[in-house]
This record gives sequence, C-alpha cells and structure tokens, in this order.
Amino acid sequence: MVTYGYISMYRFIQEVYTVSVLLLSVILCSNLGHTLFIQGCPMFGCRPSGSFSYYLQIPRNNVSIKWASKKFDPVPQKLGCVANSYSVLCPNNGPFREDTGYQALFPSNGTTRWRDQKLHYPTLPLLDDYGDVTGSDGVNLVHYDADGSKYPEIPCQNLKPVFNLALVGNSYLLLVSGSGYIVVRETNGVPVGSLTLNDTIQNVNGSFIPISQPVVNIQRFYVLTKFVPNRKFHSAKTETTDDIRLYAIDVRESIDNRITIAWYIDIKDENKMTEKSRYHREHDTPDKKPKVKKSDDVITDSTTQALLWNRYNKTVYVVLGTEIGTSVKVLSGVRDLGKTAKIEFQASVDVKSMAMFVSDHCEDSVGSEPYLWVTTTSNLIQQISSEGNIVRTINMSTLFNASVTITSKLSVIRNSDVDKDLLVLGIAANTLSSRREMDTKTYVVAMDTMLETSPAMVIWSIPLPDKMVARGQIAGRNGLDVTCPDHLIVYADDTNVTAQIYSIS
Ligand SMILES: *[C@@H]1O[C@H](CO)[C@@H](O)[C@H](O)[C@H]1NC(C)=O
Ligand SMILES: *[C@@H]1O[C@H](CO)[C@@H](O)[C@H](O)[C@H]1NC(C)=O
Ligand SMILES: *[C@@H]1O[C@H](CO)[C@@H](O)[C@H](O)[C@H]1NC(C)=O
Ligand SMILES: *[C@@H]1O[C@H](CO)[C@@H](O)[C@H](O)[C@H]1NC(C)=O
Ligand SMILES: *[C@@H]1O[C@H](CO)[C@@H](O)[C@H](O)[C@H]1NC(C)=O
Ligand SMILES: *[C@@H]1O[C@H](CO)[C@@H](O)[C@H](O)[C@H]1NC(C)=O
Ligand SMILES: *[C@@H]1O[C@H](CO)[C@@H](O)[C@H](O)[C@H]1NC(C)=O
Ligand SMILES: *[C@@H]1O[C@H](CO)[C@@H](O)[C@H](O)[C@H]1NC(C)=O
Repeated sequence: MVTYGYISMYRFIQEVYTVSVLLLSVILCSNLGHTLFIQGCPMFGCRPSGSFSYYLQIPRNNVSIKWASKKFDPVPQKLGCVANSYSVLCPNNGPFREDTGYQALFPSNGTTRWRDQKLHYPTLPLLDDYGDVTGSDGVNLVHYDADGSKYPEIPCQNLKPVFNLALVGNSYLLLVSGSGYIVVRETNGVPVGSLTLNDTIQNVNGSFIPISQPVVNIQRFYVLTKFVPNRKFHSAKTETTDDIRLYAIDVRESIDNRITIAWYIDIKDENKMTEKSRYHREHDTPDKKPKVKKSDDVITDSTTQALLWNRYNKTVYVVLGTEIGTSVKVLSGVRDLGKTAKIEFQASVDVKSMAMFVSDHCEDSVGSEPYLWVTTTSNLIQQISSEGNIVRTINMSTLFNASVTITSKLSVIRNSDVDKDLLVLGIAANTLSSRREMDTKTYVVAMDTMLETSPAMVIWSIPLPDKMVARGQIAGRNGLDVTCPDHLIVYADDTNVTAQIYSIS
C-alpha cells in the first residue's frame, strides 16, 4: 500500500492529538459560499464576524434572574460567557488555586457541571452544537466533551497573550497572539500552519503585532496590527508606533501555502492628523508611548474589540484610538475588494463596543436592514449608517434619569431575520438620594429600537443583586422547548471579591 508522506503524518498527529471535531451546522448559499447556522452565542463576539448578535426570543413578561451560579473570584479578563442550549461556559477563578480554567454550568439550574484545572486564565472558547468545548490560554489548547471528558491537551508555543479562539470556515481554529504569532489548526487539533507579519518600515526591521480580536469572513480573517521594531532605536525618527495595519489572511484547502496574505492596508487617522497632533506624535518621548505588551500580559477587555465584519457591505469596521498615542477614536469602514481594500469612510465616533445583527441565512432572506450599533465612552448608544454617519443616539442617562455608565458589551438580538433589533447591555446608574448620598444600582437592560419616533424603549431592566456589575459579552441560550424559555447569560462582579453568573428570562 502506498501512503503519501503528508497523509501518514496527518494520521500520526491525529492519533496522538485527537481532540474530536467541532460540530456546527453548515448552510450552503449560492453567492456566499457557506454560512454557519449557529445557536446561541458560542464564541467571543457570538459569530465569527464579531457581530455580538444572535437569535433569541427575548423574554418580555415576568422577567427575573432565574438562577445564579455559585460565587467565585472575579476573573482578570472580564470577557463574559459563551452559551447555547447544551452548555454555559465561563472563565473561572476558584475555589481552589488550580481552578483558573473554565467552568461549565448546567443551563437549567446553573450548578457547576465540571471545572477545568489545566488552563490559567484562558480567553473565551468555542462551544459546538453538542456542548463540546475547545479553548486556550496561549500555553495549551484543550478540548472537553459536554460532560467534561478531557482530551489530551496540545501545547501551544508561547502564544500568550492569546485572543479568544476563533473559527475560520467550519474546520479551522484560529489562535492569534499579542506576541505576533498567528496559528491555524484544524478543529481536531492538527496543525495547518503559522506566520508572523514581519516587515521593514523606514529601514527598521520589525513585525506587525496583532492588537485586537480577529474577525472572520468565511475562509478569510482580518487582524488589526501595530508595527513593533525588532530592536530598540534611539533616534526619535524611527519611532513608528503609529503604524497600524489591517491584514486580510486566507486559509486555503490546498496542500501548501495554506495561509496566505490577501491584502493589507495601512490605516491612519486622516481626520485628526492636525498640525498639533502631528507635532505631539513626532515629539512624544518614548516612555510616554503606549508600551508594547509583554508576553505574560493578559488580553484585557478594553483591547479585545476593534473589528467587526459586515458581509452585507463587504466592509470591515475598524476602531482606532486605544493603541495610538491620542485619545481621539476613529471609526473606519474598510471595504474588502477581494485582492485589495479601500477606506470607505472615517468618522470621529468614540466607540467602546460594536454590534450588528448578522443573519445566519443566505443574503436574500435578510429582513430588516442590519445596522451598526456602537456604545461610546460617553455612555451613548449610537446607530451608524453604512456611510459612517450617526443616524440615531440613545442617551442612557436621559432614559434612566440618572448618571449611567455602560458596563458590558452590547448584544444585538432578533427572534427572526425580519424583526427589528433588540439591544441588551449592562449598566450602572448613579442617582443622588433625598439625603444627597450617591446611590448606585446595576442592571441588565433590554431595549426595543422598533419605534422610529423615539430613540428606544426600555422593555425591562433587571437589577443585579449586591450592586454586581455586568461585564463582557451577554450571551444567549435557546430553550429546548416551551417549558424552557430562552435565557440571557450574564457574568457580573464587584471588581475585587465576588463574581457570579446569572441567567435571566
Ligand atoms: C414570575 O416568576 C416568579 C419567579 O420565577 C414565579 O415565582 C412566579 O410564579 C411567576 N409569575 C407568573 C405570573 O408567571
Ligand atoms: C441541575 O440540573 C442537572 C441537569 O439537569 C441535574 O443533574 C442536577 O442534579 C441539577 N442540580 C440541582 C442542584 O438541582
Ligand atoms: C519575524 O519577527 C519575529 C518577531 O515577531 C522574529 O522572532 C523573527 O525572527 C522574524 N523573522 C525574520 C525572518 O525576520
Ligand atoms: C533588516 O533585515 C534584512 C534581512 O531581512 C537585513 O539584510 C538588514 O540588514 C536588516 N536591517 C537592519 C537595519 O537590521
Ligand atoms: C450596505 O448594505 C445595505 C443592505 O444591503 C444597503 O442598503 C446599503 O446601500 C449598503 N451601503 C453601502 C454604502 O454600500
Ligand atoms: C445625556 O443626557 C444627560 C442628561 O439627561 C446630559 O447631562 C448628558 O450631557 C448627555 N450626554 C451626552 C453625551 O450628550
Ligand atoms: C429625575 O431624577 C431627579 C433626582 O435625581 C428627580 O428630582 C426628578 O424628578 C426625576 N425626573 C423624572 C422625570 O423622573
Ligand atoms: C477594590 O480594591 C481597591 C484597592 O485594593 C479599592 O481601591 C477599590 O475601592 C475596591 N473596589 C471595590 C468595588 O470594592
């Protein structure tokens, strides 16, 4: 029998490292290749495009916290949870020192099903349609069956700090590291390849280091990167911290050249390059510049979302600002033209998080037009047109007659494609009591955006116990039948001492 080298190699690796195959249903669309039909919110951003959107029948009557998990210590990266009908999966911290991996909760009552003790403060995993989990902390890649049966872990070569695990197509795992490495594996763990984005800018050798969670467009993914010189230079002229670049990278089914760069585009903030900011950028002292992440740093919530892929307009939304030496944020729309890209618009919008409803179905069945929604650092929710204009503003402080802080990411939810967007988020509301004392209450809020005449209508706001603050993404899980309605899954903590998971329905 003749076996080709790569085939026997593949079999060998598979036998050593089998981590089972991630199962998600694939729908074939004539014009889009395929889309995944995804239940609930089984990954960071809920969809590979980073849309923070999902299908759910938002409960409307008698809404309350239906269960609360056991209390645990707050996790350093407040990313939230992933969830579907079969499982609720959250990063864990305690009760024992080695309990720093994941915790799986029974979706029906929130009791702990199993805990992972292998990982140390992982990012969010992928949950498949059967409740199987694949996740990583940048040191190891682990896979668990829904019941907690563990497969042998696969060591990763120094991928710390690692962004949340992403799914490319329906059969590739994408691990992107803040150290510079981009690694692709098959969903059963078999390596496909890896790369670093080395380049020479103004005669300085260095590489473009990923600075945000990647987003996925079928077999292509987008990574926002920043140039970091290989060696430190003393001349101020060679400081190149402003070089921000968006890469589009394809994963191909071919035998060689499986990971290829399709295009890249340098993104500069054209609007804000005034003489003053130019001066500041060129004369900033090196130690005032944002520091390059050390390899043991964790990915923090504030740096995880700068990209969202809008497949309807073939546009990547890019938020610049946090990694550049200025405080002004810019939202850019970058159109993917296949082999090249073009900046469609740049707008000064102070984006904190982005969300947009993305259908799991083929293009022609999209009902209501999907809109980009953003939360801003001044605690507004804004709807942005495909040309980059602000078309609606929701002032949360006005809505709640209080000084409101948005504490979580924004989720956009529809029961079906033809519905209008419902928005779900966590807030903290400060009011002055009659005795002139500051009174803080925290809530999870659901809002209807159906009425064109008013900015939004609050459907309900559920207070969280002990002023616990909702953080990270708010996931959803579909109930399996009429006796078990749909639920929202919320991670909340008080920053220092206690964290808890709540199920709201
Ligand atoms: C509302 O929910 C509470 C708590 O789950 C339950 O005790 C009560 O019976 C419900 N009321 C109605 C009218 O469904
Ligand atoms: C929670 O639900 C699971 C599965 O439905 C069940 O096995 C377990 O006993 C329940 N735990 C409690 C405390 O009710
Ligand atoms: C590419 O950059 C990495 C650091 O990100 C460095 O370790 C490696 O040596 C570079 N490769 C080349 C060919 O310069
Ligand atoms: C940059 O790298 C190239 C080879 O990749 C090398 O020939 C060149 O000398 C390097 N330049 C500097 C300034 O280190
Ligand atoms: C973006 O897509 C929507 C829906 O397909 C369409 O109505 C709109 O005209 C598009 N905008 C641009 C700028 O292409
Ligand atoms: C939101 O409304 C409050 C009062 O309702 C106002 O004080 C605040 O300035 C508004 N915020 C913004 C960013 O417009
Ligand atoms: C808003 O809150 C203030 C006190 O914080 C109160 O005096 C005022 O009546 C409230 N307005 C409305 C419309 O509820
Ligand atoms: C958390 O701890 C820090 C210092 O350890 C303290 O300044 C802060 O007030 C605490 N926050 C809460 C909510 O208790």
